[in-house]
Amino acid sequence: MLGCLLRRGCGPLVLLWALMLPLVSLRRLNQHGRGSHAARDRSKLLLVSFDGFRWDYIDRVPTPNFHNLIDNGVMVEHVENVYITKTFPNHYSLVTGLYAETHGIVANEMYDPVMNRSFSMETDSIYESRWWEEAVPLWVTIQKAGGRSGAAMWPGSDVKIHGVFPNRYLPYNASVSFETRVERIVEWFSAPKEEAVDFGVLYWEEPDESGHSLGPESSLMDRVIADIDEKLGFLINELKKAGLYQSVNLIVTSDHGMAQLSPDKIIELDEYVSRDLYTWVDKSPVVALLPKEGKLDEVYSKLLDANPNMAVYKKENLPERFHYQHNIRIMPILIESKEGWTIMQNRTGPFMLGNHGYDNTLRSMQPVFVAHGPAFRQNYLKTSMRSVDLYPLMCYILSIHPLPNNGSLLNVQDLLSQEAAPSALSAPPRVNVHSYAPVVGSFLGVVMVLGFLVIYIKQVMLKQLPPLKHGSREMSQPLLLKDMHL
Ligand SMILES: *[C@@H]1O[C@H](CO)[C@@H](O)[C@H](O)[C@H]1NC(C)=O
Ligand SMILES: *[C@@H]1O[C@H](CO)[C@@H](O)[C@H](O)[C@H]1NC(C)=O
Ligand SMILES: *[C@@H]1O[C@H](CO)[C@@H](O)[C@H](O)[C@H]1NC(C)=O
Ligand SMILES: *[C@@H]1O[C@H](CO)[C@@H](O)[C@H](O)[C@H]1NC(C)=O
Ligand SMILES: [Zn+2]
Repeated sequence: MLGCLLRRGCGPLVLLWALMLPLVSLRRLNQHGRGSHAARDRSKLLLVSFDGFRWDYIDRVPTPNFHNLIDNGVMVEHVENVYITKTFPNHYSLVTGLYAETHGIVANEMYDPVMNRSFSMETDSIYESRWWEEAVPLWVTIQKAGGRSGAAMWPGSDVKIHGVFPNRYLPYNASVSFETRVERIVEWFSAPKEEAVDFGVLYWEEPDESGHSLGPESSLMDRVIADIDEKLGFLINELKKAGLYQSVNLIVTSDHGMAQLSPDKIIELDEYVSRDLYTWVDKSPVVALLPKEGKLDEVYSKLLDANPNMAVYKKENLPERFHYQHNIRIMPILIESKEGWTIMQNRTGPFMLGNHGYDNTLRSMQPVFVAHGPAFRQNYLKTSMRSVDLYPLMCYILSIHPLPNNGSLLNVQDLLSQEAAPSALSAPPRVNVHSYAPVVGSFLGVVMVLGFLVIYIKQVMLKQLPPLKHGSREMSQPLLLKDMHL
């Protein structure tokens, strides 16, 4: 059909199309002013994480505020986060677009054999910059590009990374209420133009804490989830009061989900291997062991077939899809328990009813994802994305050149509203807006003349062509699936 059309001589149509291209580009540039010189005009973006908010919590109790965002924005059903599905690795992936093996925050509890130092969420070791400096978080990159950022308790955001703190931030203090965190963030966004932040990150500890202690299946979790929805409502309301709700792009997501545990599903390592043979570095459900000098094979063989509810890996044999291998902070032996199982040394010690950290393809491990604002489509449901894809998307919205990362804007660009979407990812570098101005007039003239021609050709073509589908949606899914299985 196309060949036939070409033979019939669509020359004038092609010419017209070529003439109109610059006009289309000009329109986009005018609307968005994305030149790098226009740092002060960049879009605003607020990234919110409710720790441990599993993807399906929004349908468990009425969550009118989440649903309001979804109806007027976008939602992604399957978000594949990064392995291991713990808090620190995943929060750092969200702001770097990197798998844990590359950004270096491989767990909440780590040991670095070169530094001979341990990192623990429970200690001040998290303030040692060098743990974080295998990657550069988005707030550092945006500040180096002349933008401004503000952080309310996001993991790592009160650490000096590559010499930089966020322009505005709150030192971590779990006792500071959600409302106070929101008030600070909204203040930073509404400061006078030169002071206002472009990018904000906001973190809240729930529903993770309750999920751990009650277990996600507990009916007591209903109240906790309803409370998060009310907190989201508070945030939306504060943004509205400050006149920011329609202009600030809001992304609400989480680091991971939560699985139900049971005291009947405990694996006791002491039954299989002596504690004298290894150092216990990271805890359940993906236990990291550092065997004592010369004991690697002994520890490994003792554990290998010890219990059907755990998989034992030497670091080099971890499944490639985890992207969890190439870092000295990943220990020589990892034991991954089956969903719902807990690994302990023995039964003494605290036991939790909920946990996360398991395989990142398990549905129970996956977070919620909704977004709203001028950059996003409305009432759009997307099937799947990877959490590392968020970084290039945020960079795009903020007009920042992304650093090398493991995400892909192509995978998620269908979330963008028509006004915000890139005309083509392979588009040439953006050109100064003003260089187009003188040409516009002449194009308008030509276009008016050719307009008649178009109408004429269309009439002819309509008689010969089957209807074309307008389907950017249909086109994006195969690309996504292909990428995900790389
Ligand atoms: C590592 O640090 C510990 C103290 O934290 C020390 O006892 C040990 O000797 C150090 N190891 C090496 C190889 O330096
Ligand atoms: C943490 O926040 C609480 C509540 O605002 C406050 O009372 C407390 O002094 C803060 N702690 C530190 C160490 O700043
Ligand atoms: C279990 O481990 C703790 C240390 O974590 C130890 O004090 C206790 O004796 C152990 N219990 C048994 C029954 O081995
Ligand atoms: C992730 O991205 C980093 C930076 O570009 C790269 O070095 C690394 O190889 C990537 N990882 C994978 C699994 O592609
Ligand atoms: Zn978490």
